[in-house]
Amino acid sequence: MALRTLFTRKPLITAPLGFRGLQTFSLPDLPYDYGALEPAISGEIMQLHHQKHHQTYITNYNKALEQLDAAITKGDASTAVKLQSAIKFNGGGHINHSIFWKNLAPVREGGGEPPHELLGWAIDTNFGSLEALIQKMNAEGAAVQGSGWVWLGVDKEVKRLVVETTSNQDPLVTKGASLVPLLGIDVWEHAYYLQYKNVRPDYLKNIWKVINWKYVSDLYAKESS
Ligand SMILES: [Fe+2]
Repeated sequence: MALRTLFTRKPLITAPLGFRGLQTFSLPDLPYDYGALEPAISGEIMQLHHQKHHQTYITNYNKALEQLDAAITKGDASTAVKLQSAIKFNGGGHINHSIFWKNLAPVREGGGEPPHELLGWAIDTNFGSLEALIQKMNAEGAAVQGSGWVWLGVDKEVKRLVVETTSNQDPLVTKGASLVPLLGIDVWEHAYYLQYKNVRPDYLKNIWKVINWKYVSDLYAKESS
C-alpha cells in the first residue's frame, strides 16, 4: 500500500529557484559622519570608501547573485561555477567593509579607548599586551603584498585570539572555518592613499586612535561565551 502510494503519487510541483525571491544587499549607513574620524582618517576618504568602493562591491555582488540564480534555474552549471570568483570577491568586499565601519568610532564617542575586562585579559594572555598586539597587527598589515586585510579574530574551536591576514577581499573565514572576525583593518590603498599617499605604516599607526574597542569587546564577549 505504502509502496503503491509512493509510485502513484503525483510529483510535487516546485517553483523555480528564482521565484523564491532572491535576497540582495544594500549599503549600510555609517554609524558616524564621514568627517567624524578626522584627523586619523579624512572625511574625503571615508565618503569615497563608503559611497563608491563599498557600494561597488554591493552592486557587483547583487549582479553576480542574480546571474547565479538565473544559472541555477536554467541548470547552467558552467555559468554557476564561473560566477564563484565574482561572488567571493564582491561578497567578501561587502562582508569585510560592513565589519570595518563598525570597528571604528570617533574619539569623542570612545574611539581609541582601550578594551577592558574579558577582551583586555585575553589580549594580555595571547599577545602580552595591547601594545604588543598593535605592533603585531601593524607589522603584518604593512607586510600584506598588494591589497588585503589584517584581522584580530577569535578561533571558536580552541577559544584563542588570532591575528591573520587575507588577500584581496577574502573574508577571515577563508583562513579557517572556526575563525570569527572581531576587528578588521583594510590595507587596500583606497583606504588611505588620499591622505597618507603610499605610506601604509603611518595609516596603520594612526587608525588605532579611532578603533572602537567597546564594539570589539562586546563582540568578543558574545562570541566567546
Ligand atoms: Fe576598502
